Amino acid sequence: MNLKSRDSFSGKFGVIAAAAGSAVGLGNIWRFPYVVGENGGGAFLLVYLLFIAAIGIPVMVSELLIGRRSQKNVFGAFKTLAPDKPLFMIVGIMGVGAAFMILAFYSVVAGWTLEYTYMAIGNNLLDMSSAQLSSFFKNFSESKTGPVIWMIIFMFLTAAIVIGGIKKGIERYTKILMPILLVIIIILCVNSAMLEGAGEGFAFLFKPDFSKVTGSVILEALGQAFFSLSIGMGVIATYGSYIQKKENLLNTAISVSIADTLIAVLAGVAIFPAVFAFNIDPSAGPGLVFETLPNVFNQMTGGYAFSVAFFLLLVIAALTSSVSLLEVVVAYFSEELGMRRVVATIVAASVITLLGVLCVVYSSVFKFFDFTSSNILLPLGGIFIAIFVGWILGKQKTKDELEAHGGKVRFVGILMIILKVVAPVAIGFVFLKGIGLL
Ligand code: TRP
Repeated sequence: MNLKSRDSFSGKFGVIAAAAGSAVGLGNIWRFPYVVGENGGGAFLLVYLLFIAAIGIPVMVSELLIGRRSQKNVFGAFKTLAPDKPLFMIVGIMGVGAAFMILAFYSVVAGWTLEYTYMAIGNNLLDMSSAQLSSFFKNFSESKTGPVIWMIIFMFLTAAIVIGGIKKGIERYTKILMPILLVIIIILCVNSAMLEGAGEGFAFLFKPDFSKVTGSVILEALGQAFFSLSIGMGVIATYGSYIQKKENLLNTAISVSIADTLIAVLAGVAIFPAVFAFNIDPSAGPGLVFETLPNVFNQMTGGYAFSVAFFLLLVIAALTSSVSLLEVVVAYFSEELGMRRVVATIVAASVITLLGVLCVVYSSVFKFFDFTSSNILLPLGGIFIAIFVGWILGKQKTKDELEAHGGKVRFVGILMIILKVVAPVAIGFVFLKGIGLL
């Protein structure tokens, strides 16, 4: 399939916006703070940043170039680039599996976000005390009907956008709305920083206590890095297949990673001062953002408008991410199994909705999907992707693809060392250590 017959993104900002749209989502604003909180704060953040720079960016570049070189979805990509190495098709298979798991719990959390948008619009969040907010979250997330209905609505929206096609569906919205979300988060940071007792939150986030670093903390940091950047399962490869040759892939990966990390850290800065100011337990788990931020809206000027805008934009950020996940499954079903796009989308969305119901009903299923996808499937996918580009595709082809836009790209040598040795060994080690096998 050649470039012409595939949908493609228009221009540089379109590419970065779409990839950033995939990366920036609930992973940054919901998952990052709660995982930081559960893993002790500052030291986790440092390890996380190290993984983003040393492993995340190289793996993201690898995915982009696998996709663009093959012009295929992640499954077909390996088949095209290395027909005699069927082993690598496992990345595609694990990727499709991971997409199902992630979407299942992701759409549940996105459903919570919809409920909070609804509450915010009705001005029902602003007069609750901190304790009331916490028990509201608990009661709501443990109920069944509400979360299931919102989750179905969210899945429906995701499927509708995927059926609408790449350009029309994804590109148009992300370009305008994500910068607005960024501005709102910055304003929240300022308000949070002014709360009494904010200092403790800053210390928690930025003062590393290395005694808290254990094998499982490191694995969580790695998993969060993969999850937040949307790497390790072919989402970025699928997007790479839509990127034109004139784009610089290395710069794209770096810009996207910086944008993604910036938003996560800012979300942390908005949340942790408030966590301490309002006496919330930093390791409160998946409810952390929902229990914390309404307190900040409560005491700030324009709290109503900000709360509505924030939750609404968070829903949209979640949508641009969930769309990218569903796209992987749909590209696979339609390009590899020959299903019509519409049919593929409906089938996938229906199965995922059923899995989502399981996540609502059994919190153990939610946790299992969350843990397994981020900390097991994505890092394993990352190992395969790094080895594939490092050892199978090799330096010359990698360099050719990275320089296909016509410029020179530096650091290809370093990139190759990371992909061949550093990333596979480091991920393998962290993985084995984290699950207690080392
Ligand atoms: N990165 C997204 C977020 O932070 C979630 C996401 C989208 C994702 N596509 C992915 C995670 C692919 C892992 C793999 O919300």
